[in-house]
Amino acid sequence: MDKLNVAVVGAGIYGINHVNAYLSNPNVNLAAVCDLNENLREKIEEQYHVKTYGKVEDMLENEEIDAVSIATPDFSHAAPALQAIRYGKHVLIEKPLATTLEDARAIIAEAEKKNVRVAVDYHKRWDPASIQIKNELAKPEAGKVIRGYMSMDDIIDVPTKWFNWSDKSSPVHFLGTHCYDLIRWYMGCEVTEVYAVGTKEYLKSMGIDTYDSIQAFLTFENGCHWTVENSWVLPTGFAKNNDGHTQILTTNSLLRVDSQNRGVEIFDDSRYRTPNYCFMQMFEGRPVGFGYDPINDFVRCLQYDLPFIANAKDGLEAEKIAEAVHKSVETASAVKIEKEIK
Ligand SMILES: NC(=O)c1ccc[n+]([C@@H]2O[C@H](COP(=O)([O-])OP(=O)(O)OC[C@H]3O[C@@H](n4cnc5c(N)ncnc54)[C@H](O)[C@@H]3O)[C@@H](O)[C@H]2O)c1
Repeated sequence: MDKLNVAVVGAGIYGINHVNAYLSNPNVNLAAVCDLNENLREKIEEQYHVKTYGKVEDMLENEEIDAVSIATPDFSHAAPALQAIRYGKHVLIEKPLATTLEDARAIIAEAEKKNVRVAVDYHKRWDPASIQIKNELAKPEAGKVIRGYMSMDDIIDVPTKWFNWSDKSSPVHFLGTHCYDLIRWYMGCEVTEVYAVGTKEYLKSMGIDTYDSIQAFLTFENGCHWTVENSWVLPTGFAKNNDGHTQILTTNSLLRVDSQNRGVEIFDDSRYRTPNYCFMQMFEGRPVGFGYDPINDFVRCLQYDLPFIANAKDGLEAEKIAEAVHKSVETASAVKIEKEIK
C-alpha cells in the first residue's frame, strides 16, 4: 500500500501529538509541518527533521500531500481547514470542529464541493472506558437510559498559562463539546433542547473574558435528560490536569466512570498524582494510547476507504449544542435545537 502523505498545521501543545503519531505510523510519510511560530518551526526541524512552513498556502503549493491535520487554536480551525480542502486534501480537525456554526457549515459545504473527507478528533470516543459504556448500552439487557451526568473539568493553568487564546474559547468549546459528542454517541440520537447556566467571574477578574464554568441540561430525542458540567478553574494542585466523571441510570442498571483516578497513584514530595496512563505514553519509542488512536484511525479510514468514527456531521452537531448552551446562558431561557434537514 502507498504511504499516505500528511501534513500538520499548528504544532503547539496538541499538534505535536499529531506529529508524533504520524512519524511512528509506518503507513504515513509526514511531508511537512506548518506553524506561525518561527521558534517552534526551528525546534521542530531540528528535533524531528521535518520540513516546516510558516504559511499554509506555501505548504499546500509546494508539497505533495493527501491529508492534513489541523491543530490550530479552537477559534481558528476554519481558515486553514478551508485552505486545505480547497487544495483537495482530506482533513482531520482537532475538536471542536469550529467555534461558530457558520464556520462549521462552511467546512462541510466546501468539503462536499471538493469531494474530500473531514474527520474530527473527538478522542474521548477511543477511551477504553467510553468503548465499554458504548458496548454496555448497546446490549438489550442494559435497559432504557433514564438520565445521565457527565463532568469534564481542567485545572486553571489551562486557560491562564497553557495558551493565550482562552478568551476566544470557553469551557463549553474546549471541554463541553467532548461531552456532547460522547453523549450523542452513547444515545445514538440528537439533542432537542438545552437549558444552561454559567459563571463568568474568576477568569474575568484576571483579564480573561471567558466563562469559568457552565452547567447544561440536555434533553435528547429518546426522552432522556443529561446534566453536563464543564469548568477550567480547578486548583493547580489537583492530582491531574483534568477531572471527569460519568454516571448513567437506566431502567436496569447504573453505569459509572471515574476518568480522574484510573488506578495508578503516585505520591512524592511535590504533588499527589493520578496519571491517565491510557491517554498518551511513549512505549519503546512509540506513542501509545487513546490520544493517538484517532490520528492513526484517520489514516486507516482513508487508506481502506472506511467511514470515520467521528466525522464533520458529528462536529456540527456538537457545535449546535455548544452554541445553544451559550445562547441559553446568555438569555436565561431554554433553547430548542432544530434537526438538520438532509
Ligand atoms: N492542549 C490540550 O490539552 C488539547 C487537548 C485536546 C485537543 N486540543 C485542541 O488542539 C487544538 C490546539 O490546541 P493547543 O493546546 O495545541 O494550542 P496551542 O496554542 O498550544 O497551539 C496552537 C498552535 O497553532 C499555531 N497556529 C495558530 N494559527 C495558525 C495558522 N493559521 N497556521 C499555522 N499555525 C497556526 C500556533 O502558532 C500554535 O503553535 C485546539 O483546538 C484544542 O482544543 C488541545
